[in-house]
Amino acid sequence: MKKAKFKKKILCIGAGYVGAPSMVMIACKCPDYKVTVVDINPQRIAAWNSDQLPVYEPGLEKIVKKTRGRNLFFSTDIENQIAVNDIIFVCVNTPTKTFGAGAGQAADLQYWEKTARQILEYSQSSKIVIEKSTLPIKTALAMERILTSGKGDITFDVLSNPEFMAEGTAMNDLENPDRVLIGSRETKSGLTAREELVEIYSRWVPAEKIITSNIWSAELSKLVANAFLAQRVSSINSISALCEKADADISEVARAVGTDSRIGSKFLRAGIGFGGSCFKKDILNLVYLCRFYGLPEVADYWESVVKINEYQQDRFIANVLQSMFNTLAGKKICVLGFAFKADTADTRESPAINITRKLLAEHAEMVISDPKALDNAAMDLDDAEGQISYIEDPYRAAVGCHALVIMTDWDLYRKLDYGKIYRSMVKPAFIFDGRNIIEHRKCFEIGFNVFPIGKPPLTRL
Ligand code: UDX
Ligand code: ADP
Repeated sequence: MKKAKFKKKILCIGAGYVGAPSMVMIACKCPDYKVTVVDINPQRIAAWNSDQLPVYEPGLEKIVKKTRGRNLFFSTDIENQIAVNDIIFVCVNTPTKTFGAGAGQAADLQYWEKTARQILEYSQSSKIVIEKSTLPIKTALAMERILTSGKGDITFDVLSNPEFMAEGTAMNDLENPDRVLIGSRETKSGLTAREELVEIYSRWVPAEKIITSNIWSAELSKLVANAFLAQRVSSINSISALCEKADADISEVARAVGTDSRIGSKFLRAGIGFGGSCFKKDILNLVYLCRFYGLPEVADYWESVVKINEYQQDRFIANVLQSMFNTLAGKKICVLGFAFKADTADTRESPAINITRKLLAEHAEMVISDPKALDNAAMDLDDAEGQISYIEDPYRAAVGCHALVIMTDWDLYRKLDYGKIYRSMVKPAFIFDGRNIIEHRKCFEIGFNVFPIGKPPLTRL
């Protein structure tokens, strides 16, 4: 008999920011496994099969080139792939609901439920189904209910394996995770399924970093981890407001506080607030769950993290307006960075969207610059009224502008020749550094009026 070419076959449904990079890493570390990634979006799959990958992540392209066609495949044939694979990761998107009960807070599970039903419909043998999308707790239970609703002797073991990678550092996070979390039912078949998944990760993750738990704890841990991270950002941002009033310096405060080993130094960078597809969505999810379970005090506590995030953006906008003599009408403002953080083209929930829209409402003329995210920026601002242009080169973008607003912590912006930029701008020229990444004193000496976050402004006005 011919020996099977691959030891195991793995399917991932959803070729987005979470699914595709995670599978690329599995394919790289397990060359004897066949990994197939499917998506309902044919353009997305075509892009994964091309030289223009739909997701920008440092280091991703290199591994895709190494594995694609070897043991990594991208396809739109969801039905057949469900039938032929035994291990199925579900990585479809779960945005916040925009309609009906829980609108604005609860997760919209329509994509996810559709996937569960497809798995049920096309499965001809027993499967392990692994949730990787961020989902409210007890979703696995709902998935089990759908999957056990009538397929005779075919069984489905549902595992929760939340992904903790961050965009921009995804490949490194996947290769060297702080931990891998696997939740399962504590039944015999649940534990066997858990072991199958542990075996995959054991190829490159040390055993002590693979944590197993009950399925609900795994689901909840993902929401809580993101809520804690976002809470740190809102905590430091709230103190940045106080620093601006009290003539303290937020970087000095963050350093002094963060060197306490019980607190730690990460996620204490003050700025214009957090963005990205996860933080707001996950906190609102947590808030919804707390209210659902009759815990209004807990819900209010976590909701305040989102409120401070909005407040920080409003404060930033008010500062731009006030510092520029309370009128922006007809003034040209250059936005440096539109992505929600550096090293990604992703603009989901980017503070730059809200800030740009509010500045447009003041009749400012906006010039948007970003090394990777201009296409997404144009889509985000598609329906915005007012004058907007998109110029990748920051030097060209700044010409004739009254102000620069730094929205994304791209390394590129640390290294610009601000003297050259200053000379091309309308005077008095302003910089609002929403990420505290440039040399404020140096820019002040060049001639700019400089407004950092959580530090005294440097201005001659
Ligand atoms: C986050 C979690 O970090 C990751 O574990 C999870 O899997 C997905 O959600 P991500 O959204 O990709 O990852 O980016 P992250 O690095 O966490 O940054 C989120 C936002 O917080 C960004 O807008 C970033 O600019 C902002 N941030 C982060 C700050 O403003 N200050 C900080 O000190 C850190
Ligand atoms: P995330 O950041 O959670 O990965 P993305 O939006 O980047 O979110 O990716 C989710 C992907 O899931 C999208 O490419 C979307 O087309 C895909 N998707 C959504 N529903 C289905 C489905 N029923 N079957 C297959 N793919 C789906």
